[in-house]
Amino acid sequence: MKAIVCERWGEPEEVLQVREVPKPVPGRGEVCVRMIASPINPSDLLMVRGQYGRQPSLPATPGFEGVGIVEAGSGLLARRVLGRRVAVLNSGGGNWKEYVVLPARQAIPVPKELSDEQAATFFVNPATALVLTRYIWQVPAGAWLLQTAAGSTLGRMVIRLGQRFGFRTLNVVRRREQVEELLRLGGTAVIATNEEPLAERATILTGGEGVRYALDAVGGATGSEVVHVLARGGRLIVYGTLAGEPLSVDPRTLMVGQKRIEGFWLSEWVRAQKLWTMLGLFRQIGTLMKAGVLISDIGKSYALTDIHAAVRQASLPGRQGKVLLRMSGI
Ligand SMILES: NC(=O)c1ccc[n+]([C@@H]2O[C@H](COP(=O)([O-])OP(=O)(O)OC[C@H]3O[C@@H](n4cnc5c(N)ncnc54)[C@H](OP(=O)(O)O)[C@@H]3O)[C@@H](O)[C@H]2O)c1
Repeated sequence: MKAIVCERWGEPEEVLQVREVPKPVPGRGEVCVRMIASPINPSDLLMVRGQYGRQPSLPATPGFEGVGIVEAGSGLLARRVLGRRVAVLNSGGGNWKEYVVLPARQAIPVPKELSDEQAATFFVNPATALVLTRYIWQVPAGAWLLQTAAGSTLGRMVIRLGQRFGFRTLNVVRRREQVEELLRLGGTAVIATNEEPLAERATILTGGEGVRYALDAVGGATGSEVVHVLARGGRLIVYGTLAGEPLSVDPRTLMVGQKRIEGFWLSEWVRAQKLWTMLGLFRQIGTLMKAGVLISDIGKSYALTDIHAAVRQASLPGRQGKVLLRMSGI
C-alpha cells in the first residue's frame, strides 16, 4: 500500500515522500481502516517541520484525523465498528496512508448524513471550537469573545457557535478581504490588522470595557495586542502558533485587573477526560455538524501521490478551504 513517509523533519515539500509499505495487520483490540480522506491541518505541517509539541519517532507518517471504512479488527469494540464509516482519531499521527491500524476506541462511527469530506474533518477543529467555548468556558449569551485567525476553519466554527449560543464574536483577521465574508457568516464585528490597530479598535467596539473571553492562534504581535483588550478578570487562551513568534507581555497588564493567559492543547484535554465525556462530545459534534455549525469549508483535494502539490496548497496564505488528501472513494 502507499504511505506518506518522512525520514527527517523539515519543509514538507522537501521531506515528505510516497512509499510502498506492507499493509498493516490489526492486533487484539485494534481495527484496520481503509482510509478515504484526511485533511492537511496546521498541526500536521508543524509536526513535519519538527515543531509540534510532541514529535513521534522517525520515520513517521503525518495525519492526525481522517475518515475511512473499518475492514478488519479483533475484539468486542472492533466487531461493533466492522464495515462502518469512522472518523480515524490518531493523536500520534499516521493517517496519510491507504490503510491504518489503530485501537478500536479511536475509530468513531460518523453520522451517515455527513459527506466524506466533512467526516474527514470530524474531530480536530470541531472538538477544539466546542470544548473551548462550551466545556472550558460556557461563554454567556451577550458576552464578547475575541478571536484571532478568525477566518480559519476553526474560527468560522466559533463564529457559528456564537450565533447558535448567543455570544458576540469580535473577529481579528490579517486581510481586509475577509471582513465582509465573516460578517456575512454571522461574526458580530471584524477587525483587519493590515489596516486597523487591533487594541484601539476592539476597545471602541466593546464600549471601552474590553473582553472577558479571548482566543489566540497567532501569537507574536497580534497575540500580544490581545492582552491589552482583556477586561478585568478576562482570560486569554492560546491554542495556536501561526506567526511562529513569542508573545510579549508587560506583567503589569496582567496584574491590574487580574487577567490570565492559559494554553490549550486538544490531545492533552482529551487524555484527561472520562469515557462518557468523550461519548457526549462525539454526539454533540455530530449533531452540530449536521446542523451546519461545526462544518469545514473544503478546498482542493489531492491523491497521496500528489503530496508535494497538496502541502504547497495547504501552506498558501489566503487559501480557500481545507486541503484534503484522498486515498479512495471520493
Ligand atoms: N491547540 C489545539 O489543540 C488546536 C486544535 C485545533 C487547531 N488548532 C490551531 O488552530 C489554528 C487554526 O487551525 P485551522 O485548521 O482552522 O486553520 P486553517 O483553516 O488552515 O486556517 C489558517 C488561518 O490562519 C491564518 N493565518 C496563518 N498565519 C497567520 C499569521 N501569521 N497571522 C494571522 N493569521 C494567520 C490564515 O489566514 P489567511 O487566510 O490570511 O492566510 C487562515 O485564516 C491553527 O493554529 C491550529 O494549529 C489548535
